[in-house]
Amino acid sequence: MNRYIIFALIALLAIVSAQDCKVQLPRLLIGDKYTNATSDVTAIIAFDTTDLCKGVATLNFNKGDPSFDFRVIDPVVQAVDTMLDHNGNEKEQVKYLKYTQIIQLKADVQQSYTVQIQGNKADNTTIFGTNYTFILPKLPSDNSKYTENQIKFMFFGDQDLTANGTAVLNYLQNNTKSNKFDAMIYLGDYAYEFYQQNGKKGDNYIEQLAPLSFSYPLAMTPGNHEDNLNFTLFNEKFFLPGFNKTKNNYNSFTIGMVHFVHINLHFFSITTNDEKDKMLKWLKNDLAIASNAGQRKNVPWIIAVGHKLNYCYNPYYVNNTECIGYAQQFLPVDNLLSQFGVDLFIVAHEHYNQVMAPMAHNQLQEYQLKIISSTEFNLKKGKGYVTIVQGNGGCVTPIIPQSKSRMLDLASDLQKANLFIAPFNYGYGYIQVINQTNVEYVSYDAINQKELVKFNIKSTHQSSGSSSTTFGQLITFSLVILSALFTAF
Ligand SMILES: *[C@@H]1O[C@H](CO)[C@@H](O)[C@H](O)[C@H]1NC(C)=O
Ligand SMILES: *[C@@H]1O[C@H](CO)[C@@H](O)[C@H](O)[C@H]1NC(C)=O
Ligand SMILES: *[C@@H]1O[C@H](CO)[C@@H](O)[C@H](O)[C@H]1NC(C)=O
Ligand SMILES: *[C@@H]1O[C@H](CO)[C@@H](O)[C@H](O)[C@H]1NC(C)=O
Ligand SMILES: *[C@@H]1O[C@H](CO)[C@@H](O)[C@H](O)[C@H]1NC(C)=O
Ligand SMILES: *[C@@H]1O[C@H](CO)[C@@H](O)[C@H](O)[C@H]1NC(C)=O
Ligand SMILES: *[C@@H]1O[C@H](CO)[C@@H](O)[C@H](O)[C@H]1NC(C)=O
Ligand SMILES: *[C@@H]1O[C@H](CO)[C@@H](O)[C@H](O)[C@H]1NC(C)=O
Ligand SMILES: *[C@@H]1O[C@H](CO)[C@@H](O)[C@H](O)[C@H]1NC(C)=O
Repeated sequence: MNRYIIFALIALLAIVSAQDCKVQLPRLLIGDKYTNATSDVTAIIAFDTTDLCKGVATLNFNKGDPSFDFRVIDPVVQAVDTMLDHNGNEKEQVKYLKYTQIIQLKADVQQSYTVQIQGNKADNTTIFGTNYTFILPKLPSDNSKYTENQIKFMFFGDQDLTANGTAVLNYLQNNTKSNKFDAMIYLGDYAYEFYQQNGKKGDNYIEQLAPLSFSYPLAMTPGNHEDNLNFTLFNEKFFLPGFNKTKNNYNSFTIGMVHFVHINLHFFSITTNDEKDKMLKWLKNDLAIASNAGQRKNVPWIIAVGHKLNYCYNPYYVNNTECIGYAQQFLPVDNLLSQFGVDLFIVAHEHYNQVMAPMAHNQLQEYQLKIISSTEFNLKKGKGYVTIVQGNGGCVTPIIPQSKSRMLDLASDLQKANLFIAPFNYGYGYIQVINQTNVEYVSYDAINQKELVKFNIKSTHQSSGSSSTTFGQLITFSLVILSALFTAF
C-alpha cells in the first residue's frame, strides 16, 4: 500500500467546490436484491466526476415515474499517484484524482425506464446528454413470472479499443438493436491497460461501452489485468453484489432460472491462505444452498463465471505450462464446483472461443455429442461442468500459433475435452435459457458478422460427489505418516 499515495484528501475535500459535476462514464450494475442479502438495492448507477460533487446527483425520468425510488450515497475517491505496470511491463507514472458517484436504485422491474442523470444541482440544465433506457431483470422473488424462454445473457472478455475489439463492440451494439438480452457479464481484462495515460485509456473504453453497460445491468469480473494495487483501481469503479463484504472477489446472484456464482480465480491465486480459505468457505456455503433440492427445483441452473479458468487447454501455445497448471492450482475450487453440480463455467483469459466437454475433479466426464452441422452441436451432460471460454473480445494480443506442428501432445483429459476452438474469430456469446434442462449457447463472429457456433446444452444438474482422495494425496499422506514415525523415533 505504500506505493499507493492518497493525497491530503481531507484538506482537499474542504477546499474543493463542486464545479465539474458533469456525468462521465455512466454504468449500471446489478444490485444486492438479486442475492440472498437483505437489501432493497436493485441496481447501482455509478458515474465519474472530476469534482467531489457530494450528494448532487439526481435522476430525471422521462415518464416521471414517482414510484422509482433511489438514494445517492457518498462518492468514492479515486486518488492515484504512483508507478504502475502489468506484470513488470509498461511501467509508467500514473496520476489522477476523480470521484465515482453512486446512486442506489430501488426500482421495481415492471417496465423499462428512460433515465437521464443530472450531475449538478447548481445548474440542472447542464446534464448528461444521452437518455438511456433500461429494464431490470425480474427479481428472484418474481421467479414464478418466468415460464418460457427464460433469460438471455450476453458475455465477453479480454477487450480493448484496438481494431478488433472496436469492431466487436460496434457489431455487438448494432446487433443488440434486434437481439435483446437481459443482463451482461463482462469477463475481465478491459482496455489493456486501463490505468495508462493517467487513467484515460480505461475511461475511453468505459465510454465506448456505456451504451451497453447502461442499457443492461452489468456484472463485471476483474481479470488479471485489473490486479494493480490489490484490485483497488477496479474496486473504486465497480461494485458487484455483496461488495461491502467480498470486494468484488466473489459473489453470487440469481436471475430467473440461473444462480450465477462469480469467482475471481486470479485473486485466489495471488492472495493469502486465509483469504483463500474464506473464499472456499463462502463458495461451499453458497453452492450448498443453491444446490439443495428445494432451491434447485426453482433455480435449476448453476453457472459459474469468472476471468481465469481451471480447465485450460491452449493448443496454440507451445509449452504453456501456466495454462495447463491451472487445473492443479485451482483444484480446491474445482472440487466444489463439481461436488455441487455446477452446470457451466464461463470464463475468458485465453484469447479465443472454446467449448470444453464436462470435467469434474480434474477428470473428463461422460457426455453425448450430436453433430447437427459443422457449426451446431447438441451436447448432453450428466456429471461435471462444461467450460466455455469467451476471451475473444479482441485486444492487443491475438493468439497466433507459432507453429501448429508444435502442439503439445498432452494425451490428457484436458486435450480430449476440447470440443470446439476458434482462435481467430473475434466476438461474444449469448446464453438463452430455454427451460429446466436446456440452454442454447451461441457465439458470434463480429468481424465476419455471422454466427460462429451453436451448442444446445442439456443438463441433468448432477453432482459428482465430493472429491475422493487421489492416489497422489494418499502417497503424500503415507510419506507424512512415515516421516512422523521416523521423527518420533
Ligand atoms: C439465504 O441465506 C440464509 C442464511 O444463510 C439461508 O438459510 C437460506 O436458505 C438462503 N436462502 C436462499 C434462497 O438461498
Ligand atoms: C431525456 O429525458 C429528459 C428528462 O425526462 C427529457 O426532458 C428529454 O426530452 C429527453 N431527451 C431525449 C432526447 O429524449
Ligand atoms: C432545476 O433548478 C431550478 C432552480 O433551482 C428548480 O426550480 C427546478 O425544480 C430544478 N429542476 C429539476 C428537474 O431538478
Ligand atoms: C486483428 O485480428 C487479426 C486476426 O487474428 C490479426 O491478424 C490482427 O493483427 C488483429 N489486428 C489488430 C490491430 O490487433
Ligand atoms: C449495422 O447494421 C446495419 C444494418 O443491419 C449494417 O448495414 C451495418 O453494416 C452494421 N454495422 C456494423 C458495424 O456492424
Ligand atoms: C455499503 O457500504 C456503504 C458505506 O458504508 C453504504 O453506504 C452502502 O449502503 C452499503 N451498500 C449496501 C448494498 O449495503
Ligand atoms: C487485498 O484485498 C483483500 C480484500 O479484497 C484483503 O482481504 C487483503 O488483505 C488485501 N491484501 C493486501 C496485501 O492488502
Ligand atoms: C517444454 O518445456 C520443458 C521445460 O522447460 C523443456 O524441457 C521442453 O523442451 C519444452 N518443450 C517444447 C516443445 O518446447
Ligand atoms: C426443454 O427444451 C428442449 C429444447 O427445446 C425440449 O426438447 C424439451 O422438451 C423441453 N423440456 C421441457 C420439460 O419442456
